[in-house]
Amino acid sequence: MKIHMDTSLKRIHTFGLDVLAKTIVEAECPEDFLMLWREAPYVCQPKLIVGEGSNLLFCGNFEGIVVLNRLKGISITESTTHWHLHVAGGESWHELVMWTVKHGMLGLENLALIPGLVGSAPIQNIGAYGVEFDKRCEYVDVLSLSSGGKVRLLAAECGFGYRDSVFKGKLKYDTVILAVGLMLAKAWSPVIEYSALVELAEREKITAQTVFDKVCKIRREKLPDPSVTGNAGSFFKNPVILKSMAEQIQLEYPMMPFYHVGDNLVKLLAGWLIDQAGLKGHCIGGAAVHEKQAPVLINSGKATPTDVINLAEYVLDTVYQQFAVKLEHEVRFIGREHEISLETICQS
Ligand code: FAD
Ligand code: EPU
Repeated sequence: MKIHMDTSLKRIHTFGLDVLAKTIVEAECPEDFLMLWREAPYVCQPKLIVGEGSNLLFCGNFEGIVVLNRLKGISITESTTHWHLHVAGGESWHELVMWTVKHGMLGLENLALIPGLVGSAPIQNIGAYGVEFDKRCEYVDVLSLSSGGKVRLLAAECGFGYRDSVFKGKLKYDTVILAVGLMLAKAWSPVIEYSALVELAEREKITAQTVFDKVCKIRREKLPDPSVTGNAGSFFKNPVILKSMAEQIQLEYPMMPFYHVGDNLVKLLAGWLIDQAGLKGHCIGGAAVHEKQAPVLINSGKATPTDVINLAEYVLDTVYQQFAVKLEHEVRFIGREHEISLETICQS
């Protein structure tokens, strides 16, 4: 276990904000996590597990221990129909995707270039271009911080939903994700129904590498590279609302896109709503709404946490005033000692 005192968090989260943690610890085995959560002098201090910090907004300095996940290792078994991958939580997600495509273990290619670690993927059930993590997940291995025991949760027990899982709910404060089990079918067929991928259907031959390359190309064109421009991907979730409410909005905005996600529910696009509200490029201090991709808020260089919080609040209010739709942030807000929300900040 490596320990660093009073250290800048700038390089360990993708928004690149100039904030500090009292202590940063690199946890290399499950026992390191147990020691931090159970033994003096660590037990009483606030703690936050961080992967690559690509879904976090630090709202100021963190007055506790930031625990970096450094659990490594991949093992593979096979059945006649599937590859079964057991991947430690500290492995890089994108490197795993690249490796599987290169070695003919297919099915993750639509999820290329999503920043972050493997152990973070189940938490918000990462998804892109028509595939979500749960479609390839067999199990998630967790360490219970209260009992010290290791438990295997089958995918069906993880409560996966759109950007949601049991790890954001009842298991939030008691669980370290140690490893995930992925199940990749040997009989592969491309998933190319997402509008940006449909043109691939015209090709004579589609391989997983074709899909991987296309997804990487689209993402590089649209999304800011966090190593150049600080951001945390889509800041807001695509809102799911009642169909009747969407029909009301469509009376005024007949071109508004939406998708059916249940008998009475539809998913709107946060990007479209923010774009229509004229907010692309809108700045508050050093924070801005991305010019190309409206749901993404960026650090244009010298943003403070307050700039980003004020901008998020402004976007939320403006969209609400125009469409009566309440956006929810996908990005996790981290306060001085624990997770908070924009709503609680606005109320205080
Ligand atoms: P972190 O941000 O470090 O942590 C996220 C949360 O998980 C925190 O609350 C943390 O405490 C907790 N946590 C982390 N590891 C563990 C663990 N082992 N055990 C328990 N809790 C843990 N997301 C998508 O779904 N689809 C996309 O297409 C997408 N595109 C993105 C593009 C960009 C440019 C960026 C910057 C982000 C994007 N994201 C996307 C969001 C982000 O990449 C994912 O949420 C990712 O899974 C976060 O991984 P991380 O390791 O950085 O997690
Ligand atoms: N749109 C606009 N203006 C914009 C952006 C989008 O009008 O500035 C509208 C357009 O109609 C566009 C549609 O929104 O066709 C969809 O845009 P896009 O394909 O870029 O997807 P998204 O809904 O903005 C979601 C995820 C992304 C994921 C992509 C691809 C959420 C919150 N975001 O974005 O995930 O990569 O689909 O599947 O679900 C993330 O979660 O951080 C993330 C980047």
